[in-house]
Amino acid sequence: MKSIEWLGDKVRFLDQTQLPLTEVYIETSDVRILAEAIISLKVRGAPLIGISAAYGVLLGVHQYKSSSEKEFLSAFDTTLNLLVRTRPTAKNLFWALERMKSVVRLTSEHDATVLFENLEAEAKAIHEEDRVMCNSIGQYGASLVPDGAKILTHCNAGALATGGIGTALGVITTAHALGKEIHVYVDETRPLLQGARLTMWELKNAGVPSTLITDNSAAWTIKSKKIDLIIVGADRIVSNGDTANKIGTYNLAVLAKEHKIPFYIAAPTSTFDTSLNHGDEIIIEERSADEVIRGFGKQTAPQNVKVFAAAFDVTPNNFITAIITEKRILRPPFEISIKRAVGV
Ligand code: MRU
Repeated sequence: MKSIEWLGDKVRFLDQTQLPLTEVYIETSDVRILAEAIISLKVRGAPLIGISAAYGVLLGVHQYKSSSEKEFLSAFDTTLNLLVRTRPTAKNLFWALERMKSVVRLTSEHDATVLFENLEAEAKAIHEEDRVMCNSIGQYGASLVPDGAKILTHCNAGALATGGIGTALGVITTAHALGKEIHVYVDETRPLLQGARLTMWELKNAGVPSTLITDNSAAWTIKSKKIDLIIVGADRIVSNGDTANKIGTYNLAVLAKEHKIPFYIAAPTSTFDTSLNHGDEIIIEERSADEVIRGFGKQTAPQNVKVFAAAFDVTPNNFITAIITEKRILRPPFEISIKRAVGV
């Protein structure tokens, strides 16, 4: 399964809103369709959003390959403006677009064909690097998973969310592949059910023993099933270690502290934002009330009620045991370990 693929003049991506019922792939050469797919979570998960944005840049400029440099650059700017507004929280989106911008800045040849070739090479590199980073995160993270561990995870931080095996879920599947007898409890992840629809689909396909729980069962599951550790992904990690991830992550971190079990974040360094010092500075996406009260076809609240539909929350650093990156496992004090791993 490839969550996204560049086919030379178009992209092909798996429509994640159709899972787990059908595996529908969409092919498009139109950047507006890809931008809409990011907004509507057909493609989702911080690293995959970054990869998709990089390919989106290619879609936006590819018909200007033979045009003047001026026309090419104008299409480039329009495309960036479209993509940068798709989703606000995942750092990987802005990181990938910045990398694409640097390519244009650093290309000395004033020729649209050369610019396109360099941008294409960069987008492919962003994708490939993410695949490699996932493997490394998987290896480091698996060392933290004891044999026989019962693990709780939230949302989907797997192959569907990245260019490789995933981050948090990559740790889990790597531990399983190493022969560790693990069992994974998966939060359903209201309102869009990334845990139920996507993580359970991935774990079932990988043959990892797993059990689905409703989000409000987490405390009781940790206690009654004797969960050993919690591991989740991230959308943005700031200098002090405060971490934005899918709404409901903070709840789990508080529960982990109360039950004295480790709470791990797994993320590539492309998710770190060292321009921010504190989690309060992170922009948290709020989504349509419809996703909460008319989620999967049936209205579940009275008409016109007020809804607070934050898509992410921020877990303060003091709830995080360690952050697993592709470079190493970062421990508190995060101000220091993050600076060493990612720079300023
Ligand atoms: O709204 P989503 O589905 O894009 O949210 C995804 C998450 O919160 C993931 O945990 C995070 O992006 C890490 S994916 C490796």
